[in-house]
Amino acid sequence: MIGRLNHVAIAVPDLDAAAALYRGALGAEVGAPQELPEHGVTVIFITLPNTKIELLHPLGIDSPIQKFLDKNPSGGIHHICYEVEDIKAAAAQLKATGARVLGDIKIGAHNKPVLFLHPKDFNGTLIELEQV
Ligand code: CO
Repeated sequence: MIGRLNHVAIAVPDLDAAAALYRGALGAEVGAPQELPEHGVTVIFITLPNTKIELLHPLGIDSPIQKFLDKNPSGGIHHICYEVEDIKAAAAQLKATGARVLGDIKIGAHNKPVLFLHPKDFNGTLIELEQV
């Protein structure tokens, strides 16, 4: 069911510093910050030849990223995103296996439908699925 790795998301305590690190030390192609209020995050995408890195920073109060940074003050890998062709079918198939789908299908950073799967059902990894 899952296809390509769309991105790896890293929560960062300082978005500008993280962008500068990837642009400078790692020589990567770093995009502009995008605010996603419905997800409580500001994101920056870094384009690599085979995938993307999503830098995540809290936006507003009650951001899920703030809780993550409280536990991981220097930042850390927050989730990985796999591509699927049909997100509704994927959600139904996963629910049938007993996996917990977190919330509803939302529109993600690329204006495409996304949903998240409970990390306890997937080896401690928060998984995002994105319909492509
Ligand atoms: Co993501």
